[in-house]
Amino acid sequence: MSGDVAQTSGVVLADAAMIKEAAGVIKRGGLVAFPTETVYGLGADATNTHAVATLFQVKGRPKFDPLIVHVASKEEACGLWAHCPDMTHRLMEAFWPGPLTLVLPKNERIPDLVTAGLSTVAVRMPDHPVALELIRQAGCPIAAPSANRFGGVSPTTAQAVEEDLRTRLDVILDAGPARIGIESTVVACERDTLVVLRPGGIPVEAIREVAGTVTVAHTNPAQPAAPGMLARHYAPRTPLYLLDGLTNPRVRLGPVGMTTGRMGLLSFGPVIEPSGFTITEVLSHQGDLVEAAARLFQAIRRLDAEGLEAMVATQTPEHGLGLAIMDRLRKASQGIALVAEGRLVLIDRSTP
Ligand code: TXA
Ligand code: MG
Repeated sequence: MSGDVAQTSGVVLADAAMIKEAAGVIKRGGLVAFPTETVYGLGADATNTHAVATLFQVKGRPKFDPLIVHVASKEEACGLWAHCPDMTHRLMEAFWPGPLTLVLPKNERIPDLVTAGLSTVAVRMPDHPVALELIRQAGCPIAAPSANRFGGVSPTTAQAVEEDLRTRLDVILDAGPARIGIESTVVACERDTLVVLRPGGIPVEAIREVAGTVTVAHTNPAQPAAPGMLARHYAPRTPLYLLDGLTNPRVRLGPVGMTTGRMGLLSFGPVIEPSGFTITEVLSHQGDLVEAAARLFQAIRRLDAEGLEAMVATQTPEHGLGLAIMDRLRKASQGIALVAEGRLVLIDRSTP
């Protein structure tokens, strides 16, 4: 890999000196993992085709899945699109810097590789001082997917990035846990309509308040709203099953049951004890969706490290950040969990 810090590849504190060094790595075509308010990103110079090709390779990402380009100002964003309608300006005013990605027709500055050959480009201005300083000092827009292996759980800490991509990165800038914890909301700004392609850190309700009508694309596995919006994604190694309901039932586990091994519970709210599960992770004792989103991916990673037979997740209400949480849980899940006579039954989703 390129860059002076390649030998010391690993987590470094994102102080002014390291941000400067990391910006140098980006300028020279290297890869830098950096913090944003949503999740950690894996960044490369968006105008450097070679660097972007390396990024796809390191992440193990298929070339048909377009990347988000990160900028440090609204003006810089407008410089990447063919045009910038009034509505887009209003959205940028209301939500930038922040977890809103806007998709519009692109001009020639961004290579086709970044956009997977699409005529549009997704752009966002992250609300994180380290990310903004990195972009400014690199002097280029930074293409960055979440800094995990393709299809896996997004990283909300530098250590999570290291677990996934350790030896393959020039530098990982550490600024502590990501504040929002779930990826940006991706919105396509079409001629007369706004279409939410991926629910995320800005609730759809908040966008409606600014923009009026907003359509939410259905995440129908058979018909992805955009290339890369695959049905199974965000998935841990341990199979995850989605339970019906906001709270857990009490279950019996054990050798005579329908499941035999150790089972984990990922609970949105407080757990009803004794739950019967081997280990539980509570996303929010208050049942708060913002807190739950911030803790979601770390909780999944912790359960995933336990060597469980399976993990079972309760659902969240589908408003506010709950829409994004449920989108991720559905995509991470292998099937549904039911309770029959106190015993858990795990049913795999049939694969098309
Ligand atoms: O919060 C985030 O968005 C994080 C941080 C690092 O900024 N990034 C992130 O990137 O989640 P990634 O690559 O994991 O997800 C990018 C999403 C994909 O669902 C992709 O399909 C969509 O954005 N996307 C990118 N360009 C697009 C385009 N031109 N049209 C439609 N969807 C696009
Ligand atoms: Mg991702």
